[in-house]
Amino acid sequence: MTAIAERPGPETAASPYLEGVFAPIDTEIDAECTVIGELPRDLSGVFVRNGSNPKYRPRGRYHWFDGDGMLHALHLDNGRATYRNRWVRTDALVAETAAGAAIWSGINERPDFSHPGGPFKDTANTDLVFHAGRLLALWWLGGPCYQVALPSLDTVGRYDFGGALAKGLTAHPKLDPVTGELMVFDYDVLPPYLTYSVMAADGQMVHHTYIDLPGPRLLHDLAITAHHTIFLDFPLMWDPELLAKGKTRVTFREDMPARFGILGRHADGGTVRWFEAETCYMYHTINAWESGDEIVLVGCRIENPLAQTDDYDTVPRIDMLRLEPYLHEWRFNLVTGAVLERPLDDVMTEFPRMNNELLGQRTRYAYSPRIAEQPTLLFDGFVKYDTDTGTGTAHGYGDGRFGGEAVFAPRDGSTSEDDGYVLTFVTEAGTGASEVIVVDAQRVEDGPIARVTIPQRVPIGYHAWWVGAEALAGQQLQ
Ligand SMILES: [Fe+2]
Repeated sequence: MTAIAERPGPETAASPYLEGVFAPIDTEIDAECTVIGELPRDLSGVFVRNGSNPKYRPRGRYHWFDGDGMLHALHLDNGRATYRNRWVRTDALVAETAAGAAIWSGINERPDFSHPGGPFKDTANTDLVFHAGRLLALWWLGGPCYQVALPSLDTVGRYDFGGALAKGLTAHPKLDPVTGELMVFDYDVLPPYLTYSVMAADGQMVHHTYIDLPGPRLLHDLAITAHHTIFLDFPLMWDPELLAKGKTRVTFREDMPARFGILGRHADGGTVRWFEAETCYMYHTINAWESGDEIVLVGCRIENPLAQTDDYDTVPRIDMLRLEPYLHEWRFNLVTGAVLERPLDDVMTEFPRMNNELLGQRTRYAYSPRIAEQPTLLFDGFVKYDTDTGTGTAHGYGDGRFGGEAVFAPRDGSTSEDDGYVLTFVTEAGTGASEVIVVDAQRVEDGPIARVTIPQRVPIGYHAWWVGAEALAGQQLQ
């Protein structure tokens, strides 16, 4: 594997997100894996994780969010485990491959709005969703998404829902497990600032509308209940004065409230109802549901993502953004308009997951990676939270071992919310030794029941998805 500093290309500024457990790899392999312990026979499917892995030496100041999307997948089938990793062949990566070098610089550099491929490179590096038989790789800034075949990880191509989605969508659409509908959104620096669509279970767009925002926002997630979609309007934005001059710098307006917009799932955006709460930012929600007159939302609240402090020894940062997220609950009363909120824990966690089979319905458990006391964003374990009480059971990965998003995979014939397994990639600093651990979700305190050795280093990445065998059998590759 060639270290990024040794690759030919333009000048690259140093970044901790190009080093150690974050350092990109330049190999794509297929491998049968060794299993320590025993893989459960009632767990069949593919565990796929997305992440940032620049193929070419970055231009200028690298941001962790800039890298080309690379998928790492573990296919579990009747006790066997097969690993495969591939870049997502985005249009931009194909263009850079033809050029033999990076074409785009990243978000830390001045964007070129005249670039025919757009000012920022669509890397498809952020998130994954399996909807209407298609695994889609998604990008946090919003753009065309890419379909990837399972289990080969071959890029099928751009996917635009039959031409219905003219511009694109961001990471974190929400899939209703009851109706099969996918609620997607996109945001922009120019009006309309927020676009919302609903894709039916067959992949057809059945609803499309705009949500009015007071200005452009940097949004990252939304939430759904059985009948509503919840939009997040937090005062994190590109500095508007600089943006008008073609420059991008993130600013956070502490004097503005956090706003939560609740809209009927298929309603016109003009009917959205806004609820104000203490100002904050949030990358990721966990779940939301309806409870009598209230809508309950649980997520990872950050009081101020731009805190001006040098105290980064115990709180990680990604360039200007400080990550200090805590489990939090909001309750929005649809009758009185009242908002109640409460912190649920004082342990920093992020990249939370829950049982997707219950998304939008009342749930009790979340699986939340625990932030390590490191200057970069690393997770040294995960907490299985009881979100009713904020209490949790933690599994630590051990000294110098760091994991990613911990995905819940239901056991075949699962009968309760936590009847299944938690899977995550774990990478050891220094040696780069990597594995997928499988933990019984009802016995987190016992630690892994199986550890699958991955025969190459898996860099720390972002979001993951579990595609069960049944969903896999219904894959649509056309
Ligand atoms: Fe995300």
